[in-house]
Amino acid sequence: MNILVIGSGGREHALCWKIAQSPLLKSLYCAPGNGGIADVAHCVNMDPSDHMAVIAFCSDHDIDLVIVGPEAPLVAGLVDDLTASGILAFGPTAGAAQLEGSKGFTKDVCAQYDIPTAAYGRFKDADSAKNYIKAEGAPIVVKADGLAAGKGVILAQTLEEALAAVDYIFEGAFGAAGAEVVIEEYMTGEEASFFGLADGNGVLAMATAQDHKAVGEGDTGPNTGGMGAYSPAPVMTEAMCQRVMDEIITPTAKAMADMGHPYKGVFFAGLMITDSGPKLIEYNCRFGDPECQVLMMRMKSDFLPILKAVAEGTLSKHTIVWSDDAALCVVMAANGYPGPYQKNTEIRGLSAAEGTPGTKVFHAGTAYNDGHVHAIGGRVLNVTARGSTVSEAQKSAYTAVDLIQWPDGFCRRDIGWRAVAREKS
Ligand code: AMP
Ligand code: GLY
Repeated sequence: MNILVIGSGGREHALCWKIAQSPLLKSLYCAPGNGGIADVAHCVNMDPSDHMAVIAFCSDHDIDLVIVGPEAPLVAGLVDDLTASGILAFGPTAGAAQLEGSKGFTKDVCAQYDIPTAAYGRFKDADSAKNYIKAEGAPIVVKADGLAAGKGVILAQTLEEALAAVDYIFEGAFGAAGAEVVIEEYMTGEEASFFGLADGNGVLAMATAQDHKAVGEGDTGPNTGGMGAYSPAPVMTEAMCQRVMDEIITPTAKAMADMGHPYKGVFFAGLMITDSGPKLIEYNCRFGDPECQVLMMRMKSDFLPILKAVAEGTLSKHTIVWSDDAALCVVMAANGYPGPYQKNTEIRGLSAAEGTPGTKVFHAGTAYNDGHVHAIGGRVLNVTARGSTVSEAQKSAYTAVDLIQWPDGFCRRDIGWRAVAREKS
């Protein structure tokens, strides 16, 4: 098969690395790709928002399957346009990707299909949003409805903060994503992520993970795209996974089919495990980054025929075999991230780091410059390791991190702390 992967992050490097191991693969392309992806795929200098260019590339290169990594091209309808041109694509249509593209849409689906989630209200003007907040009290959660690169959520501890958040969003802090505001009940519990694959007919449970969104140790400081992740999530017992499938994922797949948007692709459910059971925080319509990196490290099956079966609607013929090992990913970011950071700094020691047993360094924001690896983004490297426990995976990952020479970068030293503490107790 000839495969085109769309994206340029660590998630896409992990997908390309996994796909490159398939005996069914003939040629692998990635648009636009990055420095690390270039080791396993042909990087194509093409803008994925130019759907006509993507379609032309697929025709010219006999592409059998396109795998779309990030949410933006999904929400923009890349899969719809590829499908209309007779090109097989992995990922939801724009209609189905509303599950990530509009938080209000997802909350309405939950309300109609009795899917457990936080109580909510949707508002198009500040006054009615504020009246709702005053009636509910704090703490309360204020969200921009649309895609805001993970930054459109304000966890307000006081009434004043919540009211200010409404003004902040309606004044345009998140652009068009803030044309509508969703206000939610503040849930408490432990967070976990659940991944499933859907082919428009049924859903196959994949695996679980936990991530660390905050930039600072002890989960403090501003939120980022994710500073690390590990899989499986200990809080997600087999019984809890079954409840998530029965109470959340399967009803969502039914809802989407009923609405004329049968869901194909990844269900990435962000969950709060509360005292009364699992509740949906939000859906993402693609793999998590860096959650994908830990999933790919644990997957034993050949992923390529499974990805194709998702696109073709034949997933029921497949199962996925997982390693019993845990996997953990430490994100190395440029100093200053998530604020302003320097670009074009040199990174050394990557071959030594990858010599650590059971370890793989996925690239996120890198490029080769005169044969040397340079950082060109905020999140730059994803040092990922397997181990028989999360503690062992953590030890290997940090051994590899310590072999990387990059004075202009940093990482959290406590990725996996919750699972490691559980394993010690
Ligand atoms: P989201 O972008 O919707 O995943 O929200 C980002 C983060 O905000 C989540 O990972 C949670 O930590 C937190 N969060 C979002 N919604 C709620 C809620 N209703 N109650 C408590 N925490 C929330
Ligand atoms: N790591 C969180 C995300 O990919 O949305």
